[in-house]
Amino acid sequence: MYYIGIDLGTSAVKLLLVRDNGVIVNSVSKEYPLFFPRPGWSEQDPADWWAGCLSGLKELLASIDPREVEAIGCGGQMHGLVALDARDRVIRPAILWNDGRTGEETDRLNTAVGRDRLSALTANIAFAGFTAPKLLWMRSHEPGNFARIAKIMLPKDYINYRLTGIHSCDQSDAGGTLLLDVEHRRWSREMLSVCGISEAQMPRLYESYEVVGTVLPGIAAELGLREDVKVVAGAGDNAAAAVGTGTVGEGGCNISLGTSGTIFVSSKRFSVDPNNALHAFPHADGGWHLMGCMLSAAACNRWFCGDILGTRDYGAEQASVLPEALGRNRVFFLPYLMGERSPINDVNARGTFIGMTMDTSRADLVQAMLEGVAFAVRDSFEVARSLGADISRSRFCGGGSRSPLWRKIFANVLGIPLEMVKTEQGPGYGAAILAMVGGGLFPSVEEAAGALTEIGSVTEPEPELTALYEDRYRRFRRIYPALRPLFPELL
Ligand code: XUL
Repeated sequence: MYYIGIDLGTSAVKLLLVRDNGVIVNSVSKEYPLFFPRPGWSEQDPADWWAGCLSGLKELLASIDPREVEAIGCGGQMHGLVALDARDRVIRPAILWNDGRTGEETDRLNTAVGRDRLSALTANIAFAGFTAPKLLWMRSHEPGNFARIAKIMLPKDYINYRLTGIHSCDQSDAGGTLLLDVEHRRWSREMLSVCGISEAQMPRLYESYEVVGTVLPGIAAELGLREDVKVVAGAGDNAAAAVGTGTVGEGGCNISLGTSGTIFVSSKRFSVDPNNALHAFPHADGGWHLMGCMLSAAACNRWFCGDILGTRDYGAEQASVLPEALGRNRVFFLPYLMGERSPINDVNARGTFIGMTMDTSRADLVQAMLEGVAFAVRDSFEVARSLGADISRSRFCGGGSRSPLWRKIFANVLGIPLEMVKTEQGPGYGAAILAMVGGGLFPSVEEAAGALTEIGSVTEPEPELTALYEDRYRRFRRIYPALRPLFPELL
């Protein structure tokens, strides 16, 4: 029997075919475009997601008898606003998690409703990437479109809708809308009314591992699947990635170095960061988690090496960074290429190289870029620790985690061992695990993740290098507060 895990990412959809013993037998990736119609805006066409999924599924299944597939799970980029009309047609391009257009609406929510009330209702305050401020933006800037909304959903829910014909949303992703009463796991009527949305316009809520339906007959016929193939509700990509690295139950930590960079602390108990610097969302295992999210992590590498230096050979570029230069770089990089969410919550923040001299080399800049991302994740890591999280080690995943140099920098900037699981495949593997639970192969997400995730390698911090990075980090921390008042003037 086989299970399919889909990771609906920002640059591509990645699909995994997993056997019932947890072994990945095939994987396919399909890229799609990302549009930046204005500085700080970020959109995608849901039709591109679906086209990538459908052609990816065909390729994925080519090597097996598709009738042996039991269930499908999808993890996806969070917070994106997908709006459907009464005939389930997409009204406008999806506004994504890293879109910064809603600065005004975000401020209005945090002041008019107020941070305390928002936090009491939803366990979170408003951030520009969250879904609720996007609805407010649409209401005032595109009233015609807003009036046509019959259903809103999150990106991976659109894939589940195309697969099953059912409007659904899982708890972990729903947390990121700012429309969910996170503690009681139900839509917040008060927040829906603040946004001018009724409960009938929201999809039905499920736990991530629950089955929402079976594949539509037309899809089954097109892909050669049985018509009783189950589709589970799936999860936000960070919750799915956490499941895929075994970060479930009480006190686990997972750091994901994907397009965004996140630190994810799982818990069986509901809790809120009193300062709301970290998000408090449901977890895909039925519990909760605290999460810090930086908007541009591996995206900085893609931008700097790919767009600026003109190379996609990241390994070769990183090879020019000498081991003896680590912890000694005098160039610093603020990775705020799309503004920043955690923990500074500043849509006006911008990417910055600082500290260059005439002898600064290309390798110093590459190193500064890699280090700047690690320092920015450390900012959220410090918040998590200050809340009492005992993070003495962490799982590490995402595309950037495959770079040995970046792993070493992270382990030493954070000063903890970083563990990679053998099946490191980001959210796709977690989504396949959720499908296995929904398909009845395991009784719970915790048991499934425990049985299927195994540590493959550990990157230990080195005391001397950790001390050097401690000094660099203290300097890094002074740069943003000094530049903060300037950023709005540069727009
Ligand atoms: C999490 C977040 C990002 C996206 C990336 O809050 O916005 O990690 O989910 O896909």
